[in-house]
This record gives sequence, C-alpha cells and structure tokens, in this order.
Amino acid sequence: MDRMTVRNIIGLKRKRRKITVLTAYDFPFAKIVDEAGVDIVLVGDSLGMVVLGYETTLPVTMEEMLHHLKAARRAVHRSFLVVDMPYRSYSNVKVAVANAKQFKKAGAQAVKLEGGKKVLKQVQAILRAGVPVMGHLGMLPQSVRELGGYKVQGKTEEEAERIFEDAKMLERAGVFSIVLECVPNSLAKRITKGLRIPTIGIGAGPSTDGQVLVLHDMLGFESQVKPRFVRQYAYLSEAVRKAVLEYRKDVLSKHFPSSKESFKG
Ligand code: KIV
Repeated sequence: MDRMTVRNIIGLKRKRRKITVLTAYDFPFAKIVDEAGVDIVLVGDSLGMVVLGYETTLPVTMEEMLHHLKAARRAVHRSFLVVDMPYRSYSNVKVAVANAKQFKKAGAQAVKLEGGKKVLKQVQAILRAGVPVMGHLGMLPQSVRELGGYKVQGKTEEEAERIFEDAKMLERAGVFSIVLECVPNSLAKRITKGLRIPTIGIGAGPSTDGQVLVLHDMLGFESQVKPRFVRQYAYLSEAVRKAVLEYRKDVLSKHFPSSKESFKG
C-alpha cells in the first residue's frame, strides 16, 4: 500500500473510495491502526477525555499533544498523520503558526483546527507557513461551553447555511479536508457534494467521503460520553478487567508465577 499524502487523500474522493480515519494516541495502538491500512491516523485532542481523564478537551495542552504525537509518529509508517491543535493553541495568528510549526517538527503531516470564519486568518497563516490543514465544522468540542453541550449542529436553515459557507471558505483557503461532526445527514451530503476536497464524518451519516471514530469508543473502553453514532467493534474494558482480576487471583493463590515462569540457579 502507498504511503498516504495530501494528494492521494484528495484523489480518493475523485475515485469515490471512502476514506478511513481513526484516532490513536500512543505507539501500540497507532501501530495497529497504521498496519491495518487506515488512511489517516488522528492524534485527536479527544486524548484528554479518553486517555487523560479530563471532563472535556479544554484542558489539553501543547505539551500533552506533542508527547502523544511523538509516540504515534514512531509507529506510523504508511497512514497520514494529523494532530489536533488544542484549545487556545491557535488563539491568534502568531501563536497558531508557532504551534503548527512545532507539530510539523515533531512529525505531524497536518494539523486540525476547529472552526470556520472565526479561525480563517489562523488557517491561512498556517498554510502559508507550509503546514497542511484539516478543518473541523459542526459540533466543535472545544466550544462545548458556548454550544451548551455536545449537540447536533446545523439543524436550523440559518445554522446549516453558516456551516456550508464556512466549509466553502475553508476549501478556498486551501485546507485538504474537513471533519464534519454531529450534523444532519442532509447537510453533510450538501457540503460533500459542494466541495472538491473530502469531508470526513463523525455523527454525520453515510454521505461523507470518509468516516472517523475515536478509537477508544469503538474498542469499547468505558467513557463519560457515549454518542449514538459510535459503533462498538470490541469490548476491551471487559477483556482487560477480566485479565486483571485473573492475574490478581493467581498471585493471591500463589498460582503465579509457576516454575516455568521462574529462573533456576
Ligand atoms: O479529537 C478528536 O478525536 C476529534 C475527532 C472526534 C474528529 O477531533
């Protein structure tokens, strides 16, 4: 399989081949996702909620994202590696460019930012600095307070129009793809048809050019938020709990370690 680039990701839309995206935040999981042939590995700031134990993505820092990006970078050889710019890391153009460059230096092939018109200047400046950008519209987890919770966006005509215009604006600015999170199917379809760059949906129905899920959600790790759009492909919380209980029982009952698991001499 070819190493993924911006060019062949955009090419997949033309070929009508769905684009696969999953998050990963560490070496072992990023390696599995990469080797399975997933097109894009996203070191998402969902890291904060599914790995670091924060209630939202807002407390996630640049240092935390860099730490996890570097671990994923060591594992990813074929997939395209994108990193989320955390909350406040792109609050103005200067800060945004400096942070995007740091991510590029640490091995990210692109950065993802939440928002449209509000962050247009930052997007343009990051692109001018030579760092590819993935957009993110619809439900914006970093704006969860302003949005009053994790709610479907674009339900009214006015909201849908604003999101559509934001998508067109981001495409004109030069982003290579846009994540559409929690928007009605009809809006996702309209945006997908209206753009030359691919849309990647999460809770946006089947019409987008690709799909993304948070790895820990689809693997069945317990989480604070369980959105209805998540399909669970495994039950790892249960499997891990079972293994840990068995290990504890074996140590307490002196069945572990056995002579085969010990050194003589
Ligand atoms: O942080 C993240 O994992 C994301 C995905 C939900 C798209 O932004």
